[in-house]
Amino acid sequence: MYFKQILDERCGCASYLIASRETGEAAVVDPALVTAPYESVLRERGFRLRYAIDTHVHADHVSGARRLAAAHGAELCLHESATVRYAFRGLGDGEELALGRLRLRVLHTPGHRPELISLLVINLERADEPGLVLTGDSLLVGDVGRPDFGGGDAAAQYASVERLLGLPDWVAVFPGHFEGPCGAGMCGRPSSTVGFERRYNPLAGLARGAFVARLAESVPPRPLNIVAIEATNRGEADMPWAMPTGSRAVPEMETEELAGRATGVLVLDVREPEEYGRGHVPGAVNLPQADVATRLAELPRDRPLAIICQSGKRSLAAARFLAEVGFTQVTNVRGGTAGWAAAGRPLDGEVDEHQGVGTDRPRRARSDGRTPAA
Ligand SMILES: [Fe+2]
Repeated sequence: MYFKQILDERCGCASYLIASRETGEAAVVDPALVTAPYESVLRERGFRLRYAIDTHVHADHVSGARRLAAAHGAELCLHESATVRYAFRGLGDGEELALGRLRLRVLHTPGHRPELISLLVINLERADEPGLVLTGDSLLVGDVGRPDFGGGDAAAQYASVERLLGLPDWVAVFPGHFEGPCGAGMCGRPSSTVGFERRYNPLAGLARGAFVARLAESVPPRPLNIVAIEATNRGEADMPWAMPTGSRAVPEMETEELAGRATGVLVLDVREPEEYGRGHVPGAVNLPQADVATRLAELPRDRPLAIICQSGKRSLAAARFLAEVGFTQVTNVRGGTAGWAAAGRPLDGEVDEHQGVGTDRPRRARSDGRTPAA
């Protein structure tokens, strides 16, 4: 058996390359868009890729599964309920994929997304029981995947996590994330065991009602460019560039500087509409970070942009992304709206009407009914 976990620091994602050393047959699970790490293992080891599997339609990173499947003539696999605009092999609960004497057994574990699957890995050379499980964004190390990325269901997540925690103690847990926005409580370890998570995962001991209530608490904001990334993974758009690299340096300003800004500076608030509605820097217009890539055309390229959020973290990532895609006058506001308010400056609390992005037309703030973020 060959098993390699590949960690992507940009998005906190984990992907996997599993192969039979006997037959050379290989599978990749949740591959990143940059496929060089998988290609080099396949080439160096002489493996033949048979399956490119996405545990679900990802919303926080662009998948490389279609690219790998096409390049190697491998089968592109998702759960049979996945709704995408390209051909794939639909996997059903209990189905097994063979790689020599290895078996990847599908467990349908919805909750984070309706089509999410986990994969039990069984090495028949050693045992007819699973030694490890790839859990996607269902069971994470110290948390579970959030259910608010579209079609998610906290009650279904409870049932899925209960099913996974019913596996034997020794089964190693390899999740789809080790950090990132999919679960705020992840401890940072890239793997665990069923026994450890059953005992120490804070969600594991909760009754169904408390589990569901916990997932509804303090839902974090949707990730940067999630709308474009998900549409790309569904085959409804082709926007792989929406996956930010976070590597472009941008200048920053303090809130004092923002207060004394010259006319012509567009203050862009990238928080969720509910956060914006509770109070924003006067004159700021709202464009949630989730929608930045899909609404780029609304942003003026001939005006300085001051990007602001709550504390300065989200806005820094959004500003870096805007710089990546060619905006040359982008500045992050350090300390964000909280810093502005802490200095005793007033906030506007208008929720219904504000100026459209880069235009003079009024825009109604979008409200999608999500729980306000902290
Ligand atoms: Fe996910």
